[in-house]
Amino acid sequence: MRIDVLSIFPSYFDGLTLSLLGRARDSGILDLSVHDLRDWTHDRHRTVDDTPYGGGAGMVMKPEPWGLALDDLAPASPGGARPTIVFPSPAGEVFRQSTARDLATREHLVFGCGRYEGIDERVFEEASTRGEVRLISLGDYVLNGGEVAVMAMVEAIGRLIPGVVGNPESLVEESHEDGLLEYPSYTKPAVWRGREVPPILLSGNHGAIAAWRREQQLERTRRRRPDLLPDDED
Ligand code: ADE
Repeated sequence: MRIDVLSIFPSYFDGLTLSLLGRARDSGILDLSVHDLRDWTHDRHRTVDDTPYGGGAGMVMKPEPWGLALDDLAPASPGGARPTIVFPSPAGEVFRQSTARDLATREHLVFGCGRYEGIDERVFEEASTRGEVRLISLGDYVLNGGEVAVMAMVEAIGRLIPGVVGNPESLVEESHEDGLLEYPSYTKPAVWRGREVPPILLSGNHGAIAAWRREQQLERTRRRRPDLLPDDED
């Protein structure tokens, strides 16, 4: 998979050289490039923002650098491959595990990180001539810009690309994969500071362990995230 990230703070993404995604990049499974949006400016101050038409607080990102960056990273190619272009935004659809699964099937993702009060609306129209445009929110809170949201999305998507996570079984038993929260995990020692591991886990009875884990998932989900349960399980 190819991923291009556009940001005025490319060093936010230095962490993506670490751990599983770092290894996926080294091995060529993930072709991830982070670009400085200011490389597509042409004035002495490398300006990316300006005051909003109609007035109001804050600054708006100018369309010109975005247009030139899209020309390079997502060129109009009739009949050719079309990338999926994601703009993180608190005004977008909420990012879920299902969104990650969907985006993990794409060949080419372009992420455009906005800052300030947002990006000139015409950039989204222009981008939609190059590929599918998705505005995606990390959740119902406001960040200072899209970088942290894109870090989270790239990690959630990247680990679903075949070969990135060594043992694919570890993808299956995660929170949210089956719509429920994960069951609790324990390792040695069997007693730690007087706290015992639930005896069922030491029983060797795989059927009983699976049933216990399922019950724990349901109980946790009911208690912490009842919104995830279908109405008839409330
Ligand atoms: N940019 C600012 N807030 C955001 C959020 N909640 N999700 C995605 N991008 C954002």
